[in-house]
Amino acid sequence: MRNVRADFDRIALVSNDGWDHNSHYHSFLLKHLPPHCVEVLEIGCGTGAFSRRLATRSGRVLALDLSPQMIRIAKERSGQHSNIDFQVADALAWEFPAGQFDCVASIATLHHLPYEEMLSKMKRALKLNGTLIVLDIPARRVNRLAYKEAGDTSGPRSQADQASPVERAKRVSGSLGGARAP
Ligand SMILES: C[S@@+](CC[C@H](N)C(=O)[O-])C[C@H]1O[C@@H](n2cnc3c(N)ncnc32)[C@H](O)[C@@H]1O
Repeated sequence: MRNVRADFDRIALVSNDGWDHNSHYHSFLLKHLPPHCVEVLEIGCGTGAFSRRLATRSGRVLALDLSPQMIRIAKERSGQHSNIDFQVADALAWEFPAGQFDCVASIATLHHLPYEEMLSKMKRALKLNGTLIVLDIPARRVNRLAYKEAGDTSGPRSQADQASPVERAKRVSGSLGGARAP
């Protein structure tokens, strides 16, 4: 987990708010927010681009990320959104409160974590009839691509790939053909 944090601390320094494969879906995802959204939790908020979109459509946003640099930059970019609470936290160790949120969202983060365990924690944190929003690469696909790239046909040994995000991004982006913005 320390490697993951260090990698994302480095990635944070070169991230901007421009188009990427995740932000491409922000407007689509926002359409699925419940109409009266008071409390939202975002897991793995990065530099907060989606948190800021959520904040315009809800009462309060609690946005968590493992990387202190991501959270520092997210706060810097969110001065106009007093309803976002950015916190450094490891989602795996964080104590999810039960039945608190109208919406729990996560973009491009769960593939770093044990998928089923996280989904069940996120679900428990929702109010009755709350909305779960997840945009991600299925962990099995990431693992399959990563192992294929590495020439290893034995397949993943654990649910979450233990390689660092930088290493994994290098392997996976090669396999996906390095798609570009339209
Ligand atoms: C690929 S980035 C996506 C960031 C953001 N959601 C976006 O769409 O731009 C994955 C994020 O997940 C965070 N992350 C990874 N493991 C985490 C964990 N255990 N707890 C909380 N955040 C984590 C990383 O620090 C990073 O900011």
